[in-house]
Amino acid sequence: MNNGLFISLEGPEGSGKSTIINKLYEWLAELIENKSINFFGVIKTREPGGYNNKLCEDIRNLILSDSYDIPPLTDALLFAASRSYHLESTIIPALEKNYIVLCDRFVDSSYVYQGFSTSLGVEKVIQINKLATNNILPNLTLVLMVSAEVGLERIKINNRETNKIDNKPIEYHKKIEEYYRELAKIDCENRIHYIDANSSSINTILDNCKEVILKYIHGHK
Ligand code: TYD
Repeated sequence: MNNGLFISLEGPEGSGKSTIINKLYEWLAELIENKSINFFGVIKTREPGGYNNKLCEDIRNLILSDSYDIPPLTDALLFAASRSYHLESTIIPALEKNYIVLCDRFVDSSYVYQGFSTSLGVEKVIQINKLATNNILPNLTLVLMVSAEVGLERIKINNRETNKIDNKPIEYHKKIEEYYRELAKIDCENRIHYIDANSSSINTILDNCKEVILKYIHGHK
């Protein structure tokens, strides 16, 4: 369908995804500039919310707002609706132009947060997302694994703005950590790679991510 390379980053709260994605972006842009790898460019985007994408941004504000107590099926459909438009308007056009797309969270977040963690269950969320994405999955998914304790402590130290999911009790976050470990069991494509983000330094985490990405690129020349 397309060229390009679609990479998603996943992980529980406080896993350091944003820092890593920014560093990967700079590294990939340099490799492309030097012609060490053969892509037209690289873009960074995120879910929910997208990249300069008002509709996705509006859905993000709705889903993450404290004003609604959204039931599980509605919640899963809203994330999927945002994802469907994000794919169509940003991700697919970039892949078709041979860009690398770095996406902060994608379907796996829905499998974990809307599927495993709620009464809906993961099978239903997989079905909803198959429809929303037309079965398009990332080529590679890097899951930065951090324990609930370390992740929540990082959010506190960094003083970053929190949302209604961050503010749930530690027991919830411990479950999320466990569900992220379950992901590999439902993936038949071997696209999921776990990276230890608990005790390792940022540079080590980054080097481990780079290694997985280069191995993929060189294996698919
Ligand atoms: P965000 O503020 O983007 O922070 P971060 O990704 O750094 O945690 O929060 C997005 C929240 O939305 C996050 O807590 C996970 C949640 N989420 C879902 O529940 N389902 C999804 O499909 C996605 C993409 C995100």
